[in-house]
Amino acid sequence: MASANLSHSKGPHMNTAIPEPSYDYQVVRQFVLTTLVWGIVGMGMGVFIAAQLVWPELNLDLPWTSFGRLRPLHTNLVIFAFGGSALFATSYYTVQRTCQARLFGGPLVPFTFWGWQALALILLVTLPQGLTTTKEYAEVEFAGAVWMGIVWVAYAVVFFGTVMKRKTRHIYVGNWFFGAFILVTAMLHIVNHMAIPVSWFKSYSMYSGATDAMVQWWYGHNAVGFFLTTGFLGMMYYFIPKQANRPVYSYRLSIVHFWALITLYIWAGPHHLHYTALPDWAQSLGMVMSIILLAPSWGGMINGMMTLSGAWHKLREDPVLRFLVVSLAFYGMSTFEGPMMAIKTVNALSHYTDWTIGHVHAGALGWVAMITIGSLYHLIPRLWGREGMHSVGLINAHFWLATIGTVLYIASMWVNGITQGLMWRAVNEDGTLTYSFVEALEASHAGFAVRLLGGAFFLTGMLLMAWNTWRTVRVGDARTTETVPQAVAHG
Ligand code: HEM
Ligand code: HEM
Repeated sequence: MASANLSHSKGPHMNTAIPEPSYDYQVVRQFVLTTLVWGIVGMGMGVFIAAQLVWPELNLDLPWTSFGRLRPLHTNLVIFAFGGSALFATSYYTVQRTCQARLFGGPLVPFTFWGWQALALILLVTLPQGLTTTKEYAEVEFAGAVWMGIVWVAYAVVFFGTVMKRKTRHIYVGNWFFGAFILVTAMLHIVNHMAIPVSWFKSYSMYSGATDAMVQWWYGHNAVGFFLTTGFLGMMYYFIPKQANRPVYSYRLSIVHFWALITLYIWAGPHHLHYTALPDWAQSLGMVMSIILLAPSWGGMINGMMTLSGAWHKLREDPVLRFLVVSLAFYGMSTFEGPMMAIKTVNALSHYTDWTIGHVHAGALGWVAMITIGSLYHLIPRLWGREGMHSVGLINAHFWLATIGTVLYIASMWVNGITQGLMWRAVNEDGTLTYSFVEALEASHAGFAVRLLGGAFFLTGMLLMAWNTWRTVRVGDARTTETVPQAVAHG
């Protein structure tokens, strides 16, 4: 079994005594803090729209507080503002440490930070006003999309520039994942946003009909595959070995994992368009590719899990490691569920129902948010030169709130989804529908309430994290020590 140790001082280059470069941690710290802020705002919005589904009066009879406008605000803020900030923070940290090089690009580095925050503000201001392309996860209108493209190109220059000036011979596998996520996201964003603008905030897609749908879901699925998965796998390959203090279980498997994942993901988009005007062969291709995708997804999960072999006992006392490992369990769960839902006959039941919403949040809360939280708890003390987080008890409480919150969310959505699917397809002997749509909606009410509770649990955990972080980083705290150089020095 091949393995790789992240610590270069113990690695194959130990004779070349690499002088300790000074890393750019300022931008990493900034992105860590905005991850927390946007996590709270975006998930707060999720809790609010979940409450609207329980109590529709919360739409407040105003267009900009209606579910239809706040739902895309929720998705955009959690994916781009929260997830994006987390990916910037962790990729900038990882690429510097594993390449033993300071970030390339000089002023481009702070530009990516402020540019990305400006994008988040554009989303916050335009989406509630109803300014939207109507393409899911690509709702931001022309000017915002162009801005996002510019910031992304700057990000690519900084990241790949740093890889190019690395002092190590080898490019650590985490960087391959981050690199693929950056390149493919650029490609998806540009192709899907091709549009004819009539003003800065109104444009028309260059595609039409089934082609438009196909391009949109090629984008949509790969936004999941490359933004919400490949980037976070880059995080996994750095932070799980670091927190467990073990080498990656199999370096060879990680390379196979990488190539298989990126080769397969790109074909699976049509599973979002089963039983539509899309040609049948395209739907079947999407289904088959999705099923095969189970293999690399689980290969990656197993590689992450097995990294803990010989270190399982650490889970008892280390809640940060627990976050990281449980995130992998949810990753395994959602990447088992996804291929099943891609089978046309299963999709005939699950599509349009809350089952999809449950699947989304098994991935979004269980995988994306949990691996982010674990990685941030690893990072924060190191970035601010503290011995550890202010309170381990609060991390523990956060872990349980997040885990129970996610389970409540996805279990209620499974029950709702299957109930809805079965009620919608039930027919009487004379061929008429057994249930009206409203009856299925009424049957979903209890599930909506449980989901709201789960979401509130998860959000409460995030608030605890913000408090814990504040107590850890604030200046003058008696528990702090000035150990930034050491934090830099230890691998
Ligand atoms: C092998 C991996 C996966 C496969 C094959 C897969 C497959 C699917 C399928 C078949 C759907 C339902 C499409 C529909 O009926 O419209 C779906 C929806 C979705 N999945 Fe996955 N999934 C996978 C992993 C993930 C992960 C890890 C995440 C999150 C991090 C995720 C996020 C989503 C989202 C956001 C949607 C909803 C898209 C929408 O309709 O707006 N998926 N997925
Ligand atoms: C406190 C946590 C959260 C709550 C309470 C929450 C709640 C919701 C609600 C109520 C919806 C609309 C469901 C519907 O239309 O029936 C939704 C959609 C969605 N959320 Fe969340 N959410 C949370 C966290 C997240 C996170 C962290 C992410 C991503 C990283 C995320 C990604 C999404 C996506 C992609 C959709 C659209 C799903 C689809 O179209 O199929 N959510 N969320």
